[in-house]
Amino acid sequence: MNKEIDWSNLSFGYIPTDYNVRCYYRDGKWGEIEVSSSETINIHMAATALHYGQEAFEGLKAFGCPDGKVRVFRLEENAARLQSTCRGILMPELPTELFAEMVKKVVKLNARFVPPYESGAALYLRPLLIGTGAQVGVRPADEYMFMIFVTPVGPYFKGGFNTTNYVVVREYDRAAPFGTGTFKVGGNYAASLRANKLAHDLGYSCEFYLDAKEKKYIDECGAANFFGIKNNTYVTPKSSSILPSITNKSLQQLAKDLGLNVECRQIPVEELAEFEEAGACGTAAVISPIGRIDDLDMKQSYVISKDGKPGPISQQLYTKLRNIQYGIEPDTHGWVTVIE
Ligand code: PLP
Ligand code: COI
Repeated sequence: MNKEIDWSNLSFGYIPTDYNVRCYYRDGKWGEIEVSSSETINIHMAATALHYGQEAFEGLKAFGCPDGKVRVFRLEENAARLQSTCRGILMPELPTELFAEMVKKVVKLNARFVPPYESGAALYLRPLLIGTGAQVGVRPADEYMFMIFVTPVGPYFKGGFNTTNYVVVREYDRAAPFGTGTFKVGGNYAASLRANKLAHDLGYSCEFYLDAKEKKYIDECGAANFFGIKNNTYVTPKSSSILPSITNKSLQQLAKDLGLNVECRQIPVEELAEFEEAGACGTAAVISPIGRIDDLDMKQSYVISKDGKPGPISQQLYTKLRNIQYGIEPDTHGWVTVIE
């Protein structure tokens, strides 16, 4: 354990840790896993990652549990999504076994940075895959680097499991209907920076996206998926431009386990008026309950939480998810990997 870190007051920021792990793709195959203590990478100035955005990343967490073990949540799903992103921007797929081995290795090597259970913080893992081969024409690289670094993090939005407010942004899109929105590529996040700044400048915790084509349906909330609860039903958007969130997929299962109906469909923005509860969900966001969503252009304000508190179903889903991640409740769906 690291005595200098104030575990309970961590933000979602970068703190240096001891090691990262790396693996290189050359001559058509992945090499051996390498351990590095350097925070920098040395790449060619014509690398495709730098010019043509051949870059993918992932995000997952390791939890320090009350039984003293460390658990990682759904790493196979992150490996599968990274493979999907690789197919999306023509990078070589990283095998799940290699991904899993590197996850386990990097967590073990940085064990002293896994926050204690009581702090509510977690060790965030950031896998990164980049085209390192030089190209000047727009085409895929022939060499790649995959790495995972880790950093201890607190809540993504200030206050953790408390309601915050969101604003619909109509003047910027994060992804096109048949663009790269379903892939976890840096370009989507570059495209989101202006909308995110706009929301923050107006005092909101995050921007709220509608579908880019018609601006009629809900897409997602910044770097998190959306869900709403009404009539004992968990409703979440179906869209060709949002990231398939592993947290959302898990919450859909937990909602079913709790006896709720689950609907994955287009959600017209006006339907926000009907939700009894709503939240943003993701690895970083966990469940961030939504208080109010303002649609300034339409002069509409959707007050989701009348008393400013998270709703009871969001609370139940949050507790269930956390308890599985921390090994407090049985892992009936086989979601966690104990790091031995
Ligand atoms: N949507 C976007 C755009 C994201 O960046 C993330 C974060 O990974 C999510 C949704 C949530 O996905 P997950 O639950 O897999 O972390
Ligand atoms: C995550 O939830 O892992 C994310 O990637 C969100 C954000 C930090 C990009």
